[in-house]
Formats: sequence, structure tokens, C-alpha cells
Amino acid sequence: MPGFEVFGEEERQAINELFDLNGGILFAHGFDAMRAGVYRVREYERAFADTMGAAHGQAVASGTAAIKVALKALGVGPGDEVITQAYTFVATAEAIFETGATPVIVDIDETLNMDPAALEAAITDKTKVIVPVHMMGEGADMDAVMAIAKKHNLLVMEDTAQALGASMNGRRLGTIGHMGAFSTDAGKTLNTGEGGMVLSNDEQLYINARSYHDHGHEYSTTIGRGEEGALCRGFNYRMTELHAAIGLVQLKKLDMIIKAQRANKAKMMTGLKDLGVPFRKSLDPAGDIGDTIVFYMPDRARCDKFVTAMGAAGLGTKNLPDAIRWHFSKHWAHMLNDHPIYGGKLDTAWEKTADILERSVALPVMVKMDDERISFVCETLNKIAKDIL
Ligand SMILES: Cc1ncc(COP(=O)(O)O)c(C=O)c1O
Repeated sequence: MPGFEVFGEEERQAINELFDLNGGILFAHGFDAMRAGVYRVREYERAFADTMGAAHGQAVASGTAAIKVALKALGVGPGDEVITQAYTFVATAEAIFETGATPVIVDIDETLNMDPAALEAAITDKTKVIVPVHMMGEGADMDAVMAIAKKHNLLVMEDTAQALGASMNGRRLGTIGHMGAFSTDAGKTLNTGEGGMVLSNDEQLYINARSYHDHGHEYSTTIGRGEEGALCRGFNYRMTELHAAIGLVQLKKLDMIIKAQRANKAKMMTGLKDLGVPFRKSLDPAGDIGDTIVFYMPDRARCDKFVTAMGAAGLGTKNLPDAIRWHFSKHWAHMLNDHPIYGGKLDTAWEKTADILERSVALPVMVKMDDERISFVCETLNKIAKDIL
């Protein structure tokens, strides 16, 4: 939980400053005469987009909202299919359902991200958007995804909730496709408690997102908010000034967070080099934000044993396997069972993904880990591996 780890006086001061400057106007819009020129959401959108190298940023209330807003901006609706992957947080599929479209869920590969072959095989004449999800700090094969999208004339929306700040071949994730969605919830690289961001280089897509996230508002520059018209049927997914004030402070810490995580991950990888099991396949190690280490046990039984032994030694895992039910579509009967594509078939679906995930152990890499802690983690894991393998 890097953002949380690095909370300091600066975040507290940013909130105090909002109240000091204008009595605490927490709404992002209007109150122009009273707010002493303070527009934190606007500043945050600009700073976030600049940091990532995107033309436009639209702040929203959560990462889940960001996915939905981006899909609506891309024109997704009932009758459309949106392809995403079996290993992701439940929010990705929820947001697709929210637009009225059908999520078409495909396998991952040893990168723990979308398998490009599975993606291409799932394309139909109803497919509108591809949503690759960059899981646990590392990017999907964006060259392959973009080439497939181009070939079939499809749009790409990157779910970058878990890889804020990561890159692929020198380009920040979330800026390679037509749109990108980010989360700054309490467990993410940047932490605003709740929060999300939609990025795009396309001005019209940005205007669509801005309008949809705020009741359809057209954002006139000449007439007041109360008098202006609407561009579409929208909703309220707005971010508050409080969240943006914290986001601005956290964004300044992004480089430091990534640098510390990468350094700690490198030390841990050295300490685990003789673990005796394969590690997650990385397509661009230099672009990894370094917040997770994943390795694959030979089978599920030994994976369970390994994790039980970790627990006994006081070590936890990061989502795999402890929160697998929220991150693997096989466990989403509550949402998928009444759907014609999935109903009654979950037990036998996504066998490749099941085989990978059920053998995966994911370790958190923290910003603040001293050498003593790193040695303890590595020595404990090496010892467990020796006993079990
Ligand atoms: C891959 C992925 N997408 C979307 C989300 C949703 O983000 P939020 O919690 O901000 O709604 C998450 C959150 O964990 C996530 O991991």
C-alpha cells in the first residue's frame, strides 16, 4: 500500500490549505467568485496527465468509475461486446456490465496479463473495445494488443488501476491505447482514499468522458454551469477538491515510491534467486513499478502448503492466493451465472488461467522495507521452498 506508507505532513497541510485559502470549497466547479482561484481537481488532472504524458485527464470518484466513464466515452452500450481478461479485479467486469455491454472474458498467460492469442480468438462482429488489465505493476503485451485492435478496427481501453506509473517500451501504461483508467484507492500506488483518473490523447474522447462523468454538462467557457446545456445522458462520478488536494501531494511522491519499490524488489529477487521455482514472465522489467513478486509453484497442493507455511512464519501474500475470489472470474457466479455465455459453465471455464493462478504466490514489495526485513523474508521463503519442493 505504497501511497499509504508515504503519507506525511504534506497531505495534512494540503487539506488545511484548502480551508485556509477559501473556507473549504470542496466542489470542483462553480463558486468562482468565492474560491480565490483554487481549483484542485483541475490542477490534479493537468499534473496527472503531464506526469503520464497524456494530453487530457478527467478525474473521477474511483477506479471502477474511471473504467465505466472511459467505456461510455468510447461509445460502448447494449449489444456491444468488450473483451477483458479472467485475472483482474471484479470491478473491470462490473464496469462493462454497467454500460449494458457484455464482458467477454479471456485467458491470461504467464505474464499474468491478457493472452493475445486468446484475445484474437474471442473477437466477433459485436466486439467494440478491448480492455487489457495491467496486473500487479507490469504491462500487458501492448504491441500485440494494439496490432490486433488495428487489424480488427477495435478500440483499446487500458485498465491501469494496478500499474500506475509503470511503462512498456518507454511509454506509460494507460496512454498507449485510446483511453486509460487508473485507481487511487487506498491500496494503490497513489492513495487518495477513493479516486480515479481517465486519460486520453483524443480531445473528443476526453470531452465525452468529462460530460458523462458530470450529468452530461457541456463545460461552457462562456455561460455559467446552471445555464449550460448537456451533451449526453450522464451521471455523477465527480472527484472532490479534498481528494484532488491529496492526489497532488501524492503525485509528487510517485518517482520516489517507484524508485524505492524497484530497489527493494531487486534486493528481494537476489535473495530469492535460488528459490527453485519460476518467476512471473516480464515483458519489460525496466517498466515494472516493482510492487509485487510472483512465483509459480509446481502444483496447487504445494502452493497451498507453501502459503500455509508462510502464514505460520508471519508472512502474508498479496491477493494471490488470499483474495483470488475477487480477482478471478471463475469465482464470480454472483455476477456471471445468470448470463447466457457463462451460466453453469464457470467450473470448467478459463482452465489455463486457473492452472496459472492456482499455483501462484504473490509477495508484496513495500516502499519501506529495511535490509533486515528483506533478509528475513528471503531466508524464510528459501527455507520453506527447501522443505516443500
Ligand atoms: C485491476 C483493477 N481495476 C479496477 C479497480 C477498481 O478501482 P477502485 O477500487 O478505485 O474502484 C481495481 C481496484 O482494486 C483493480 O485492481
